[in-house]
Amino acid sequence: ETTPLIDPFQRPITYLRLSVTDRCDFRCTYCMAENMTFLPKKELLTLEELDRVSTAFIGLGVKKLRITGGEPLVRRDIMEYFRAMSRHLDSGALDELTLTTNGSQLERFAGELADAGVRRVNISMDSLDPQKFADITRRGDLAKVIRGLDAAQEAGLRIKINAVALKNFNEDELFTLTEWCAERDMDLTWIEVMPMGDIGNENRLDQYWPLTDLRERLEERYTVTPLAERSGGPARYVRLEETGQKIGFITPLTHNFCESCNRVRMTCTGELYMCLGQEDRADLRQPLREHPDTDEPLVAAIREAITRKPKGHDFDYSRQRADGQVSRHMSHTGG
Ligand code: GTP
Ligand code: 5AD
Ligand code: SF4
Repeated sequence: ETTPLIDPFQRPITYLRLSVTDRCDFRCTYCMAENMTFLPKKELLTLEELDRVSTAFIGLGVKKLRITGGEPLVRRDIMEYFRAMSRHLDSGALDELTLTTNGSQLERFAGELADAGVRRVNISMDSLDPQKFADITRRGDLAKVIRGLDAAQEAGLRIKINAVALKNFNEDELFTLTEWCAERDMDLTWIEVMPMGDIGNENRLDQYWPLTDLRERLEERYTVTPLAERSGGPARYVRLEETGQKIGFITPLTHNFCESCNRVRMTCTGELYMCLGQEDRADLRQPLREHPDTDEPLVAAIREAITRKPKGHDFDYSRQRADGQVSRHMSHTGG
């Protein structure tokens, strides 16, 4: 029970990303198609099942738990889950309970999240221009997200902004976004767009803005110092000496970070994906549902899955769509 999870490449698995719903109130163009079919509610793990699986992972040495979706805060009963998980923070078994959100519901939930022991949230925001924000999210309201962000800061939560780097879309906002985040004392992380899921007519190669280029542009204006520290996530960080702020780069395409991967992710239906960029997965819903009174089969299934964790992803824009891309949507596994 107590031997920690170590994968075949000697990487300790200490970070679980848990998607609690496939639904979202936005339809970001790089993430979803306009018309998405969502799962019937009965397919989703119940709160009790989410609690059991999270607790099992924590028992196996997971120290960082990130709740994702879809948009996690659109799941109606989710605050109850956060409150339940705070017991693992109190006992010291868990170091961090956090979430990645589009911010649309934060105005309402920031206080409750802070009360449950959340200290930090990652908020996705790709543009500061209200019209562009509405275009990229198809239904997001920038003003509402900013109110959510304010509420989160008032509740004492640290904020990291995630921006997907998109060619011909937010290239011209590199400095505006940087300065805006600096003024509010928020970290900013840029993400290379990954080829995941059918998103309709959009061509991802047209959207792809490599962060090597973004970084060169930053260096034209700022003194950029690389930092050795890692947050336990995939980002590499630099500090801008002029603002003192931390900027992260998530570069699955231009600089693979798989050698230090410490995480697995579970979908809202209980499928455990050992890698974001691979199709292999393990069904954890079956041991959960077939054995309501014991977690032994669940723990055995988790251990078996970890022995199959691959060395890395194979996202690649230089190859054909069929093999350089993963067919499921980002919202399925929560990134
Ligand atoms: P912190 O470092 O704790 O702030 O969080 P994080 O960067 O792990 O989480 P976040 O949800 O903010 O993720 C930001 C982006 O990184 C998302 O687009 C994820 O899809 C992407 N990401 C997270 N983990 C992986 C991974 O293992 N592989 C790849 N390719 N992308 C990842
Ligand atoms: N490539 C890169 N990032 C993506 N996200 C959603 N879809 C993609 C994609 N195809 C980002 C969101 C959010 C995070 C969880 O994943 O913007 O910040
Ligand atoms: Fe929703 Fe996030 Fe996907 Fe946008 S990127 S549609 S906010 S899950």
